[in-house]
Amino acid sequence: MIVAVDGPTASGKGTIARALAAHYGLPHLDTGLLYRAVGRQCALNGGNPDDAGDALAACSFADSLLDDPELRSEASGGLASRVSIHPPVRQALYERQRAFATQAGGAVLDGRDIASVIAPEAEAKLFVTASVAARAERRFLEMQGQDRAVSLEAITADLAARDERDRTRKDAPLVVAEGALVIDTSDLKREEAIAAAIAAVDAMAGN
Ligand code: DC
Repeated sequence: MIVAVDGPTASGKGTIARALAAHYGLPHLDTGLLYRAVGRQCALNGGNPDDAGDALAACSFADSLLDDPELRSEASGGLASRVSIHPPVRQALYERQRAFATQAGGAVLDGRDIASVIAPEAEAKLFVTASVAARAERRFLEMQGQDRAVSLEAITADLAARDERDRTRKDAPLVVAEGALVIDTSDLKREEAIAAAIAAVDAMAGN
């Protein structure tokens, strides 16, 4: 069984994807991390993330970079969003994601274009979303926990800018794929969102 979990940043899709993977005993791939690694590698190379050539050159990052805690930062998220608009970058990351999705036994992948591009044949497709205010507040609390000084206003502005870029890019924009079930986590507790996701996957995959 392939489970596709798409949605905007800080919507809870990562939490839901990890919980689904544990529940069904499936391997999980956070595809945003791949784009974050490209963005970070591009910065380390002294490249320009808005330049397709520089962004493509950064796709040959070492796998060890995926363990770098810096990839979780807002700065890396912003860089990831910028390098992800270039079609050659998306192409370079396609095979790795496709191979993960189609491995024997199935998989859970979360990202922006899993149900639309990477694995349109997925048995279960979820689109996890939440209001900008709810997502900004979660990100804000998360950052406070890490002692990172950022204002709620700055996070809200950053999230809105990233949403806009992810939704309006020409290649594989963030969309609710056909057949996907939307879960709005704005007013849901973590456990409620996970329970809703499991019920949805059971229904879609006929478990
Ligand atoms: O999910 P995330 O915040 O880690 O993603 C970071 C950026 O990477 C996001 O703003 C757009 C890009 N991305 C993408 O284009 N396609 C994916 N499947 C996953 C992420």
